[in-house]
Amino acid sequence: MIASCRPATLADIEAITALRSAAYPDGMHKPVGPQLQHLYVAQAGHEVVGYGRLRLHRAARFDPPGYYLGGVVVDPAWRRQGAGTALTRGRLQAAWAAGAQVVYYFANSRNEASIAMHRGFGFTELRRPFEFPGVTFDGGVGVLFGLTRQD
Ligand SMILES: CC(C)(COP(=O)(O)OP(=O)(O)OC[C@H]1O[C@@H](n2cnc3c(N)ncnc32)[C@H](O)[C@@H]1OP(=O)(O)O)[C@@H](O)C(=O)NCCC(=O)NCCS
Repeated sequence: MIASCRPATLADIEAITALRSAAYPDGMHKPVGPQLQHLYVAQAGHEVVGYGRLRLHRAARFDPPGYYLGGVVVDPAWRRQGAGTALTRGRLQAAWAAGAQVVYYFANSRNEASIAMHRGFGFTELRRPFEFPGVTFDGGVGVLFGLTRQD
């Protein structure tokens, strides 16, 4: 079954929380509710099988400012079946529709799955090492990637 991407709703909070806790069991997590406006989910049938974030960061502490994809997680049982791609395609469409000229994402240099998935969209490396407020990159360094709007 192919997953499709849609904006998250209140009904998705439980599923997103469970996916996040399973992917990052040691993390200190903020409640999902206030972040809902920035979240998208991948749905297969009636099941939420992944989620991801799209945020416009404008504050001066964000360098570069702009639209960032982030926090994409797919249920391990659903990986390599296109859910991450669906989430990324959906969030990119939302960013372009909102007027983005460039979309950024960053990853730990060791995260081959994430880097390979985003490479499929044409993201190219912009900065290494890259630092982002509140994020640590255990065992590797942060890498910033960007994708420029094509039209
Ligand atoms: C990264 C992640 C979201 C990818 O989700 P996914 O649904 O498995 O991705 P897709 O099925 O859409 O994969 C698309 C392509 O990306 C590449 N890819 C995905 N996972 C890969 C892996 N583990 N190793 C190498 N390439 C990979 C492949 O080219 C794949 O195409 P293919 O399956 O036809 O070979 C998923 O592995 C995940 O949730 N990881 C844990 C959380 C995480 O690290 N998030 C990223 C933080 S920056």
